[in-house]
Amino acid sequence: MTMIEIIEAKKQGKPLSEEMIRFFIQGYTKGDIPDYQASALLMAIYFQGMTDEESTFLALAMRDSGDVLDLSDIDGIKVDKHSTGGVGDKISFIVGPMVAHFGLKLAKMSGRGLGHTGGTIDKLESIKGLKIEQTEDEFKKQVKDHHLSIIGQSGVIAPADKKLYALRDVTATVNSMPLIASSIMSKKLASGADIIVLDVKVGDGAFMKTTEEAQTLARLMVEIGKLANKKMIAVLTNMDEPLGHFVGNAHEIHEAVQTLLGKGPEDINHIASTLVAHLLIQSNVYQDFDIAYDACRHALSKGLAFPYFKRMVEDQEGDSDMLLDMPKYFATDNVQIKAKKSGYIHQIEALKVGQAAMLLGAGRQKKEDHIDYYVGIELHKKVGDFVDEGDDLLTIYHHQKGLNEAMKLLEEAYHLSSDVKEVQYIIDTVQ
Ligand code: URA
Repeated sequence: MTMIEIIEAKKQGKPLSEEMIRFFIQGYTKGDIPDYQASALLMAIYFQGMTDEESTFLALAMRDSGDVLDLSDIDGIKVDKHSTGGVGDKISFIVGPMVAHFGLKLAKMSGRGLGHTGGTIDKLESIKGLKIEQTEDEFKKQVKDHHLSIIGQSGVIAPADKKLYALRDVTATVNSMPLIASSIMSKKLASGADIIVLDVKVGDGAFMKTTEEAQTLARLMVEIGKLANKKMIAVLTNMDEPLGHFVGNAHEIHEAVQTLLGKGPEDINHIASTLVAHLLIQSNVYQDFDIAYDACRHALSKGLAFPYFKRMVEDQEGDSDMLLDMPKYFATDNVQIKAKKSGYIHQIEALKVGQAAMLLGAGRQKKEDHIDYYVGIELHKKVGDFVDEGDDLLTIYHHQKGLNEAMKLLEEAYHLSSDVKEVQYIIDTVQ
């Protein structure tokens, strides 16, 4: 077999065999296949597409290019949750403790943030002392004993995907559905979970801007997971405004804790409960979705999952006393942006809010940038709320860095209208 034959086959729209895909991925990862041949194949895939089976072969070959976590020596049902990335997305910190409360186990490896969406690991590091690096044995022991661990990616997860993604970035081949779906799933399939719930964000602040695109991606990821013998569900959720009221690292941990204590906003309560209810159905803890959902809402309202989050923080050597006192650590310089007229909030551009948070220092523009964990944004008004002229729309907690540019973006982010707007938090479910 040669790379020329593989490129030729895809150029003519023929499906590639598992053997061909493994030949390509193994050769490219080792450096035996040059970038120009890999680029030609990527472009052929971009135009000709891939079947679900080919996308699965690609995801599995990329998964097998690195370490694959084996959780089989941990009893019980292991679940994982993945978000395609949004602004103010702190749902993992709520879903994890909730599934732990219901007796499932969540062993999650997460990444750092880049660009306008924050990273799960960066948010956790706003808790002083918290260790996000663990050996595999420590990680597994924590999951075994206390049902929950969220750590940074250890070992080498899907190095083929990393190398290929960098090439896609410079050859205009990022936005190909089979390439995106197999890239995301290669990393998820390395996590060793039995059941995976995907939160596919849709809208202005998300990777997928339209419902149709998000449905296509969700369906493909679900198919790849199923063909790889995982139980899969994808929930499409709205990212036309940031999630909840807080954006920033410590700010989002604060809101997650408040939600776990029964004081969360409706969008977060609803999305987290929906994701967990699906996991409870898939794992046969409940047979009826509405009953599972009600049990989730009950657990949140009574604060039943909070002890699992606190325990996770303590297991990872974080200062759990901070959790109930997070606002004390927020940057003390603050400034409000006020409504310039009266009306209903029609849209809060999530992308601009995410970019503003990044400019303040809450996120990275480049991989090497340092994060300021304690700057952030509090949205006092959300889509559907009515405001009078002069009301506070939001507060910026800052350390001077990037303030003027962030204010400009945030002023542009809010759109008012004379009509009230209904918000739909969950757009679709694919399973
Ligand atoms: N996220 C990924 O991990 N891969 C893609 O291709 C796109 C988004």
